[in-house]
Amino acid sequence: MRPWDDQIAVVTGARGSIGSAIVEHLRSLGARVSGSDLPQSGAAAPDTLPAVDVTVPASIEAWLEDVEHAIGNPTVGVICAGITRPGRLVDLSDADWTDVLDVNLTGAFYAARAIIRRMLASNTAGRIVFVGSWAAHAPHPHIGAYSASKAGLRALCQTLALDHAAEGILVNEVAPGIVDAGLSRELFRRDPDLEKRTRAAIPSGRIIHPDDVARDVAFLASAENRHTTGTVLVSDGGLSLASAMNPATATR
Ligand SMILES: NC(=O)c1ccc[n+]([C@@H]2O[C@H](COP(=O)([O-])OP(=O)(O)OC[C@H]3O[C@@H](n4cnc5c(N)ncnc54)[C@H](O)[C@@H]3O)[C@@H](O)[C@H]2O)c1
Repeated sequence: MRPWDDQIAVVTGARGSIGSAIVEHLRSLGARVSGSDLPQSGAAAPDTLPAVDVTVPASIEAWLEDVEHAIGNPTVGVICAGITRPGRLVDLSDADWTDVLDVNLTGAFYAARAIIRRMLASNTAGRIVFVGSWAAHAPHPHIGAYSASKAGLRALCQTLALDHAAEGILVNEVAPGIVDAGLSRELFRRDPDLEKRTRAAIPSGRIIHPDDVARDVAFLASAENRHTTGTVLVSDGGLSLASAMNPATATR
C-alpha cells in the first residue's frame, strides 16, 4: 500500500457534512480525491461535484470511468451517502422503507462492488471504508429503517472483508455516535435544549465533529492499517455502553 500522495480516493455522499469533511481531510493528507453526490437542486451557486446516485449502478460506473480517465483507478473507496426517514416502523410507508434501504444498503453495495471490481482489475490492494452508525447495534425506535439498513451494512462490510482479504483489500466500517452533522445538526440548531440533553446522555459529554469521523476513516484507509479488516471502529464517546441502569455521568 502506497503513501497518501500516491492514493486515489473516491467518496460518495461528498456534499454532506461528514462526506465533505472526509474529502477535505484526505486531500489535506495528499490524496487525489473525487467526491460525488446527488445532483444539487435549487442552489444559488451549484457545486462542481460529479452527479452520482448510488442507487443507480450505471451512475456509479460513469463516475468511476471519469475518475479513471482523470486521475486513475481508486485505491480507496469511502461509502458515506446515507439518508433517514423518521417514524415508528409500524407507521412507515413502503416508499420510506425502500428509500432508506436503497440508499444505505443497496447503494452502498453497488458503490463498493464497482470500486472493488476496479481494484481487482488493476491489482490494487486497496481500502474500503463504510460510514455506518452506532444505530446498527443500538436500535433507534424512531428511525427503525435506518437501524435496519446500518445493521445490514455491517454484514455487507464483514462479508466483503472476508471475500477480499486474500487479495489485500481491507474493508472496514466507522460507526459514529451522534455527530454534529446532517439531520442531527438541523435538529440541534432548531432545539438547543435537545443538544444539551443529548450531551448529557453521552458518557464523554461531547458530540462528535465531522472532522473526527474523517480522521477515523483516514486511519482505516491508510497504509498504516495493514491488518485490520471487517472491523467496526465505534466512535461514540461511550454512548453504546450507557443504559438506563448505567446512565452517562458527564455533567458538562
Ligand atoms: N449525523 C449523524 O449524527 C450521523 C451519525 C452516524 C452516522 N452517520 C452517517 O454518516 C453519513 C453522512 O451523514 P451526514 O450526517 O453527513 O448527513 P448529510 O445529509 O449531511 O449527508 C448525506 C449525503 O448523502 C447524499 N445522498 C443521499 N442519497 C444519495 C444517493 N442516492 N446517492 C448519492 N448520494 C446520496 C446526500 O445528498 C448528502 O449529501 C450517513 O451515512 C449517515 O448515516 C451520521
